[in-house]
Amino acid sequence: MLMRVPRQATDQPIDAVAELPLSEVLSGLSYALDMTEGQPRGHAERSCLIGMRLAGALGLDDASRSSLFYALLLKDAGCSSNAARVAALFGADDAMVKSSRRLTDTSSTSQALLHVLRTAGTGGSLLARGHHVGAVLRSGRSGARSLIELRCERGAAVARAIGLDEVTARAILDVDEHWDGGGYPTGISGDDISLAGRVLCLAQTAEVFWQHGGPDAACEIARRRRRTWFDPTLVDALVALEEDSDFWQSLDFPEVTPLEPPARVLVADSDRLDRVAHAFASIVDAKSPYTAQHSERVAALADALAALAGIDDRVRATLHRAALLHDIGKLGVSSRILDKPGPLDPGEWEAVRRHPQWSLEILARVGAFADMARIAAAHHERLDGSGYYRGLTGEHLDQPSRILAVADVAEALSADRPYRRALDPDEVLSILRPDANRRLDQEVLAALEHVLAARSSTTIG
Ligand SMILES: [Fe+2]
Ligand SMILES: [Fe+2]
Repeated sequence: MLMRVPRQATDQPIDAVAELPLSEVLSGLSYALDMTEGQPRGHAERSCLIGMRLAGALGLDDASRSSLFYALLLKDAGCSSNAARVAALFGADDAMVKSSRRLTDTSSTSQALLHVLRTAGTGGSLLARGHHVGAVLRSGRSGARSLIELRCERGAAVARAIGLDEVTARAILDVDEHWDGGGYPTGISGDDISLAGRVLCLAQTAEVFWQHGGPDAACEIARRRRRTWFDPTLVDALVALEEDSDFWQSLDFPEVTPLEPPARVLVADSDRLDRVAHAFASIVDAKSPYTAQHSERVAALADALAALAGIDDRVRATLHRAALLHDIGKLGVSSRILDKPGPLDPGEWEAVRRHPQWSLEILARVGAFADMARIAAAHHERLDGSGYYRGLTGEHLDQPSRILAVADVAEALSADRPYRRALDPDEVLSILRPDANRRLDQEVLAALEHVLAARSSTTIG
């Protein structure tokens, strides 16, 4: 079956993404990790500036600085993997729990208890708060260890999937280990913690305290936790910068690409871009147990529809990456909302409606991703203007955007959700058929019927 290609809704051609620096791609996408971690945008980039300055003070060679550079940008790549568990255990917004934990000295029993009392069951009844406080306290150190272990292992796996080296992966595994052995997940100490991991631990903590109190707060927390959390040599290097106002001002508008060692610049060619897109799709899908394969499945379905439409390879590659990353803005939505087993209240619904806008804002940070960002951001738009987040109408929605919209809703209906079971292909099609040429593109829906029928016959056969 051959589908007629509707005219492009924009006059602009789809950009060809040529080779570009990997640092530009990952620093752009690091905003998504900041949002999941409950940090203001730019946290990873500012941590990178601090960490690379420490690397300079230590006189690290190019290879070590390259590994550290990417570890600093990707240190939170595993953060979505424990979001649902954190939200369920604490009965609270996972990003809020995580961001307040970053300001807590978790090695102090009284501070750790205060953090639990302040965050567990937030917004719930007294009974619910009591339940969640009890649950967190019962989970104890082993519960914390398992949450951090999952996060660190997933983060290291993302670095490996992108093709980064073992020094980078190991640094991400060690990001929450402490100099005195009181950290997680393994409790190793001193020089047994990788040097890059020690830099990550200090850089990210200094950045968080810098947000709240500038250079004084960053250096004060480093001094206070010297030899407990942090390597004393690294603390000395950081506090030596206390009066360097140019350095601290550079955190206001962080520029990380110039910090990559010039002799070790990594390039994102087409293959590497695909690896990055798949890796970040896995980060998005890990955010909720209900979306475990969503991005990958949407991308496969969109690609099948694009193939049937005879779309050229360049546009098809852009659509495939856009489909992998279309929900990257969901990393900024609380898991409490995404996994809620009932109807959303107006405030929660508003947070969900914002995720395509966040997808746009994250992807558009990479200049060469302009088309990918535009297509991804339109996945909930509908031809009659009833979609979100901009209420675009048909004349603004080009063929790749129409394909992604159909692939997204078809895959979502085909998967379990907190409030309903997965629907079979006939049920999916019977729900979507009335939308033909009203909300969804008729020809793309016709292609969907063909693809789902082909899949069913393959499965049965
Ligand atoms: Fe979405
Ligand atoms: Fe989606």
